[in-house]
Amino acid sequence: MNSKNLCDATNILKKYHQEHLLYLYDMLSENKKEFLLNQILNTDFEHILALYKNSIKGDYFSFDTITPLEHLEKSDFSNSELNHYISIGENELQNEHYAVVTMAGGQGTRLGYKGPKGTYLLDLKPQKKSLFQIMCEDIKQANLKYDIIIPWYIMTSEENDTATKSFFEKNNYFDYPMNKIKFFKQKKLPLIDINGKLILKEPYMIKEASNGNGDVFNSMLENGIIEDLEKNNIKWIFFGGIDNVLLKNVDPLLLGLTIASNNEIASKSVFKEKALDKIAVYCRDMGKPSILYYENINLEISELKNSDGKYLYREANILAHLMSLNAVKKVSKVQLPYHRAFKKNTFVNAEGVKQVPEQPNTFKFEKFIFDAFSKFDDMLLLRVNPDEEFAPIKDFTSIYNPDTAKQKYENYHFGDASKIGKL
Ligand code: UTP
Repeated sequence: MNSKNLCDATNILKKYHQEHLLYLYDMLSENKKEFLLNQILNTDFEHILALYKNSIKGDYFSFDTITPLEHLEKSDFSNSELNHYISIGENELQNEHYAVVTMAGGQGTRLGYKGPKGTYLLDLKPQKKSLFQIMCEDIKQANLKYDIIIPWYIMTSEENDTATKSFFEKNNYFDYPMNKIKFFKQKKLPLIDINGKLILKEPYMIKEASNGNGDVFNSMLENGIIEDLEKNNIKWIFFGGIDNVLLKNVDPLLLGLTIASNNEIASKSVFKEKALDKIAVYCRDMGKPSILYYENINLEISELKNSDGKYLYREANILAHLMSLNAVKKVSKVQLPYHRAFKKNTFVNAEGVKQVPEQPNTFKFEKFIFDAFSKFDDMLLLRVNPDEEFAPIKDFTSIYNPDTAKQKYENYHFGDASKIGKL
């Protein structure tokens, strides 16, 4: 059996110039040989190499079709208006029409932490808390307030699924009702090095990684999550990342505003303080809601203002999105485009030795959740206060580091910020 598979695999690798994947084959046990051959036979080389080749050409970008996306700010509303929208949102929450999806399938390469990013412990006093615990406590607070139990869906990846589930088990699901938590796995793709070659994770295993948070919709469909939402009579789904320790998973104001404005999708933004910060901002592209990547933003664009003196392209994306179930169903059948990210990934070299790169060395192909927005004519965008809602942990060198996140978390929950703006 192995010899037929070996012959087929060799031919495939020759066709795609990936023969190096079998350099260590002879030293493998029979089981591992079989594993590697199966992986090769089940890899769509055509697809991954087409993604790589297309990405080399770079994304064509023209500013000609870009216009600003309007946004709302809390200060735009009177107290009675705010209360009105909040009560619309609260009503929907109390009717148990709301679910949360936490996207925790990322690799977290910049943080370089071993294990799922959600298991990273933030050094809080009196006890450290994992990012999963922080997220869980945030949702539990809403459960308590509205006397509901919000269904919580957690997206994992092949790489971190087992470790994530055992972390929850070990921590007794942070006392969240177990039957209200569901994990689902997103898809994966091989990584490619700068020479267009797939890499090995182990001598018997091609290295693959999750294919971006934009896979969430297809994965929800394929894993029966959409069916589950329908069965539970859910009408609104909040999507957030795992690494923002001030993420507000349940915000009646956002929900109420979205319902009242007849929008199917909504997001939160924070004002981008520095014109050239490496963060994407909201815009419209050919009239449809979209995102302007920081690579495409220069000082001139960032400084553009309207006649009221308000910046046009400063609403930064914080990965906090609300969508109706209908909207999720619609985009779950759509294939979002892939983007190329350059990341640090360990690999096994031709001598069978594990190499830990100091610098990014591999291309990862990822779909982004916000690419789904262009499938809609409009969306609601609500600017929020970063001291209340934005403290992501990305790495140890930028402003998005664990120390800053800890400070912002403590200030919001226990410091001066705890006295203001908590609705
Ligand atoms: P990031 O874009 O910051 O990526 O993810 P990352 O994988 O966590 O970290 P780096 O870039 O390798 O350092 C933003 C959010 O999207 C989730 C992450 O878990 C995080 O919550 N995500 C990202 C997924 O769920 N799946 C993915 O494939 C990528």
